[in-house]
Amino acid sequence: MSTHENTASASTGAAAAAQKAKAPGDPVGIAILGHGTVGREVLRLMEQHRDALEHRIGGPIEVRGVAVSDKEKHRGAVPEELLTDDAMTLVQREDIDLVVEVIGGIDYPRRLLLAALNAGKSVVTANKALVAAHADELAAAADAANVDLYFEAAVAAAIPVVGMLRRSLAGDQIESVSGIVNGTTNFILDAMDSTGASYDDMLKEAMDLGYAEADPTADVEGHDAASKAAILASLAFHTRVNYDDVHCEGISSITAEDIAAAKLAGQTIKLLAICERFRDEDGKEYVSARVHPTLISREHPLASVDKSYNAVFVEAEAAGRLMFYGNGAGGDPTASAVLGDIVGAARNKVHGGRAPGENTYANLPVADFGRVPTRYHIDMEVVDRVGVLAELSTFFAQRGISLKTVRQEELNGHARLILVTHTAREEDLASCVEDLKTSESVRAVKSVLRLYSEENSQAES
Ligand code: NDP
Ligand code: HSE
Repeated sequence: MSTHENTASASTGAAAAAQKAKAPGDPVGIAILGHGTVGREVLRLMEQHRDALEHRIGGPIEVRGVAVSDKEKHRGAVPEELLTDDAMTLVQREDIDLVVEVIGGIDYPRRLLLAALNAGKSVVTANKALVAAHADELAAAADAANVDLYFEAAVAAAIPVVGMLRRSLAGDQIESVSGIVNGTTNFILDAMDSTGASYDDMLKEAMDLGYAEADPTADVEGHDAASKAAILASLAFHTRVNYDDVHCEGISSITAEDIAAAKLAGQTIKLLAICERFRDEDGKEYVSARVHPTLISREHPLASVDKSYNAVFVEAEAAGRLMFYGNGAGGDPTASAVLGDIVGAARNKVHGGRAPGENTYANLPVADFGRVPTRYHIDMEVVDRVGVLAELSTFFAQRGISLKTVRQEELNGHARLILVTHTAREEDLASCVEDLKTSESVRAVKSVLRLYSEENSQAES
């Protein structure tokens, strides 16, 4: 169990004085850090729509520097006088009001953004890994300097989920936020399911299309989705949830066989991020955030989310069920979210004031994964003799786990047994599987997948 000493009182913006407006006509000076898949499109769209953006902001803007690691690669594409490989000097320059970070990584951008915030610059970042690891520190620096910290593009790229949680649903009680928040893995799983394409080929294509992270391990092992889950859970439950609090499993062990078996059962496999608020047997309220491959009925709206699209499903007390769908990766969609943040932060520079920040007042305990309610789908090869089912059922009964469905098929002289459980504690389900593996009646546990379940919320799937 991890709890956090939340000290985000100032993050409400209530304690901080309003940011002062710039002198009329004085342009908002912008530094763009990174000119890769996202940075290139941010710069292009800013140039293309400058007039419209300035109208929306209510004052002029000016890009005054573009930082990259290798200037040679960008000569010709970026005006020479803007190009620099010294991002640290750029972010602290007098003529910079707003720093846009689209580099990636954690340690170096953390130092850059803290230096920028400490120097009174507002910050826009698309960097979920950084925000999920250091949100408290960055929010505190923004509060202390009385400037903005925006990160809409950090979760689900073009889909405005951060703004939706920060502003639109700020008056509601959110019960859960779940969804597909990684474009690369959805692209791979969808192609494996619909065309039988290979995992390796689709990963390469996702990298070529600019969906994947610089190191795609972050995508396929679920780390990228876990960072996004941490951000979503923090915003939804007003509780700091960090990357390390998120249970994370990726898709690298999913085989063509798993996909075929899911299909046969009217299901598909998606990498889901699931953030929930729940009450444990002790009557206490917890939050949890997890990322893992999940079986989901083909009839559920999340099952039809294809290619690199993302979708986020929210359940709130008064609003009910909401679903947000759109482009979750790629240069243009991500640049759209970054530009929206630039407009917001620049507007506050022109007119004064600050955007609403995070507020972690609720400070709920973050549950260990073991106590989280989940459901299992277990596919086994068992010995075909009388009494096997009764014997194996006792493993579940001993732990008070009830089975929802049991299906048995003949399989080359043995039997294939597919068990679907009702909701139970993750640790009880996991230890049941360990017992099944040691039973002499079980020849092999072929696959164990968690099932997307609405048993804990409003309806049973
Ligand atoms: P890229 O790898 O395409 O681009 C990174 C850029 O950062 C490059 O221009 C690189 O310079 C520059 N850079 C690297 N190191 C330094 C340094 N030390 N100083 C200055 N510049 C540096 O990444 P993306 O554009 O794909 O991603 C950027 C960020 O946006 C990441 O945080 C990512 O997670 C996030 N994001 C990406 C999405 C996507 O679909 N791609 C979607 C949502 C968020 P150079 O070109 O010279 O090597
Ligand atoms: N690599 C990420 C993805 C980019 O595939 O979703 C968007 O955050």
